[in-house]
Amino acid sequence: MAFPFSYRLSDGRCCTIRIVTEEDAAELCALVPRADIESDFLNRLPGEFDMTVQQEREFLRDRLADPGALQIVAEVEGKIVATAGASSGKLQRYVHQAELGVTVLKDYWGCGLGRRLTESIVDWGRAKGLRKMTLHVFVDNERAISLYLSFGFVEEGRLKGDGLRRDGSYSDTILMAKHYVEPDS
Ligand SMILES: CC(C)(COP(=O)(O)OP(=O)(O)OC[C@H]1O[C@@H](n2cnc3c(N)ncnc32)[C@H](O)[C@@H]1OP(=O)(O)O)[C@@H](O)C(=O)NCCC(=O)NCCS
Repeated sequence: MAFPFSYRLSDGRCCTIRIVTEEDAAELCALVPRADIESDFLNRLPGEFDMTVQQEREFLRDRLADPGALQIVAEVEGKIVATAGASSGKLQRYVHQAELGVTVLKDYWGCGLGRRLTESIVDWGRAKGLRKMTLHVFVDNERAISLYLSFGFVEEGRLKGDGLRRDGSYSDTILMAKHYVEPDS
């Protein structure tokens, strides 16, 4: 997948998907806590995102310098409305895989952004020669699970009572993976 690329959303607006830059730090520092409020399916509870713009800038600098990581954003009408990323980490034992994360602002759910971003990351993983792409998803995140299944991710396990939900309950987490090559090969 070559970045950047542009296409039309279902409502006709132009969307550009591109690799993040350090200059996106301020916008992402606004997007992430907003997404944490809009969705109960992300890692942080509302208010837990505490990175300064400078810290975010440094995080993005590290990501951009890391050959085992990709962070992309979707821009509509000049504003970042979604982001996705994957990272292999530094440990040689695990560099054959990467963990995927996708976040779309609520106003843009159902416009096809999650699909385009996931496709971009999955294609990147294949081009990099990864053996597998992994992710964690709450058991009741039907929208996300249906998206991931459509890309060939399969359930590999469940973490029971894993994540605290806003209503005080604890939700199971599903571990999913897409294998680019057979695990035993
Ligand atoms: C989950 C999320 C990434 C999906 O992104 P999106 O842009 O809304 O999804 P898309 O419009 O690309 O739809 C992709 C697929 O999701 C599924 N989907 C979309 N809307 C759905 C709905 N209302 N119910 C069930 N599945 C739905 C469908 O399988 C759809 O496939 P299609 O393209 O064949 O219709 C997005 O809703 C989001 O960021 N949610 C909050 C954060 C989150 O849950 N992140 C994932 C954590 S693991």
